[in-house]
Amino acid sequence: MIEIEEFTKSYDGFLAVRSLSLQIERGEVYGFIGPNGAGKTTTIRFLATLLEPTAGTARINGFDVVRSPWEVRRSIGFMPDSYGVYNGMRVGEFLDFFALAYGVPRVRRRQLIDDVLALVDLDAKKGDFVNALSRGMKQRLCLARTLIHDPPVLILDEPASGLDPRARVEIKEILRELATMGKTILISSHILTELADVCSSVAIMESGSLVASGRIEDVLAKVSEQRRVSILVLKEPEGAQRWLEGQPDLRDVELVDGRLRFGFRGDAVRVAEIASKLADRGHQPAWIEEHKPSLETAFLTMTEGRVQ
Ligand SMILES: Nc1ncnc2c1ncn2[C@@H]1O[C@H](COP(=O)(O)OP(=O)(O)OP(=O)(O)O)[C@@H](O)[C@H]1O
Ligand SMILES: [Mg+2]
Repeated sequence: MIEIEEFTKSYDGFLAVRSLSLQIERGEVYGFIGPNGAGKTTTIRFLATLLEPTAGTARINGFDVVRSPWEVRRSIGFMPDSYGVYNGMRVGEFLDFFALAYGVPRVRRRQLIDDVLALVDLDAKKGDFVNALSRGMKQRLCLARTLIHDPPVLILDEPASGLDPRARVEIKEILRELATMGKTILISSHILTELADVCSSVAIMESGSLVASGRIEDVLAKVSEQRRVSILVLKEPEGAQRWLEGQPDLRDVELVDGRLRFGFRGDAVRVAEIASKLADRGHQPAWIEEHKPSLETAFLTMTEGRVQ
């Protein structure tokens, strides 16, 4: 539904995004994750037909974003990272204005506005002034605005930024509902954990380059490969350390306070085997512990050191 091929953008010689290729299938909620300056907004503005690429192409709903910008605009609902709402307009008028701009006929507009307001849970606010809405409500109103021409694709640049936890949960619930309606959604965020439970796939960007991408389960599995195991051995820990260092599947073996620690990617069967081998060799393994980094820590490790 969204295909990006080798998108590159340089601003006066500064490479903001380098050779990014992504495939987003119909019906996916696709998380586009990365810290400040990763290139998310640059990529999103290119997809929204607002930015000329330095190189590369993209197609949305079958239309080339450079050659067929009008068809692309009709196919997407775009929520920018910062947006204005028109003060002095009421919620219903605000949506009516955009529906009109998209050429939705008058007979359909009223029902459509009621439908999108119900979807974002703002039906009770239809007659209120937009500037009197809270930030979370304004954000939901902008989400409603992206839906007004019923586009198959939604491109949302940090729709949950600046919202409190409750409001973030509400936005995610709306996204889930939109996904069940068959929308393809690209959504950016700084943090993987924030989107992990709503996305089907993610791409993680760092300083203009793709760090990891794929099904959310696969990316999470990759992240959890950073697990470490520690084993307390009662006899001759140095000898046990040498033996562990000889195992090709273990990484960074260290001995700390009589406990052996190592990076480990295997399963419980392999841990049991290691413990039993250590026992056979007379080291008397006692306590075995698994240290899994939190998703947050793992994500920071994956992207650290490359932040500009
Ligand atoms: N108009 C511009 N002119 C020059 N450099 C720019 C311009 N827009 C973005 N950049 C640079 O390109 C890089 C990527 O910026 P971009 O806004 O795409 O990042 P982002 O991932 O959206 O970050 P954030 O999380 O802060 O929104 C940054 O280093 C930024 O300084
Ligand atoms: Mg941005």
